[in-house]
Amino acid sequence: MPDIPIITLDGPSGAGKGTVAARLAQHYGWHILDSGALYRLVGYAASQAGTDLADGEALVSVVSGMQVQFAPNQVTLNGEDVSLAIRTETAGNAASKVAAMPAVRAALLDWQRSYAKRPGLVADGRDMGTVVFPQARLKVFLTASADERALRRYKQLKEKGITARVATLAAEIRERDERDQNRAAAPLKPAEDALCIDSTSMSIDDVAHSIIRAAESCLS
Ligand code: C5P
Repeated sequence: MPDIPIITLDGPSGAGKGTVAARLAQHYGWHILDSGALYRLVGYAASQAGTDLADGEALVSVVSGMQVQFAPNQVTLNGEDVSLAIRTETAGNAASKVAAMPAVRAALLDWQRSYAKRPGLVADGRDMGTVVFPQARLKVFLTASADERALRRYKQLKEKGITARVATLAAEIRERDERDQNRAAAPLKPAEDALCIDSTSMSIDDVAHSIIRAAESCLS
């Protein structure tokens, strides 16, 4: 594999990875991989097709039938604009179920790796540093308390005009964390050489700055 600079950003949902990844990609002028969106797309496509979310083989054929296009602020799946549909909590839960299937993870591996292009890549997910890009120059594991993550999610949804209850979101986040951390296939955990950052009481700017500072020595 050519030596393309990669920064991986792993951690539980709502820790701020997406926003920080976008900041970093903009700062360096790099590509970005939102790997969670791929799992959300599989969960959504499978639910729409009435596929059993625990049937690995059927899910792999769902993946092979997916034509996906990412444009700024828009995702299309087989020609349908699914930008909002894949961001709901239902889609997040479906994503976390299909993500527990090793066959689905294997089917998405090459697709994810194809995002590693010059001048560089910021990869956001759960197993970017541990499985997909173990050679990354810098691996970051970003966390925040479940309550803080539920609150951030609530504000995000409100901005998009989606109503939700903080307590329900917190319960869903805990349930999803539990499933992501305890699954056998690529469980959510920091890479051994990851820089761990707890963003509970940090701003997005603070997090981005501390990653850029840490990256100085790895990218030169
Ligand atoms: O990051 P996001 O919340 O969009 O991801 C949705 C779900 O997809 C996660 O809860 C997780 O189960 C799964 N996922 C994963 N591996 C990744 C990215 C996401 O298992 N690299």
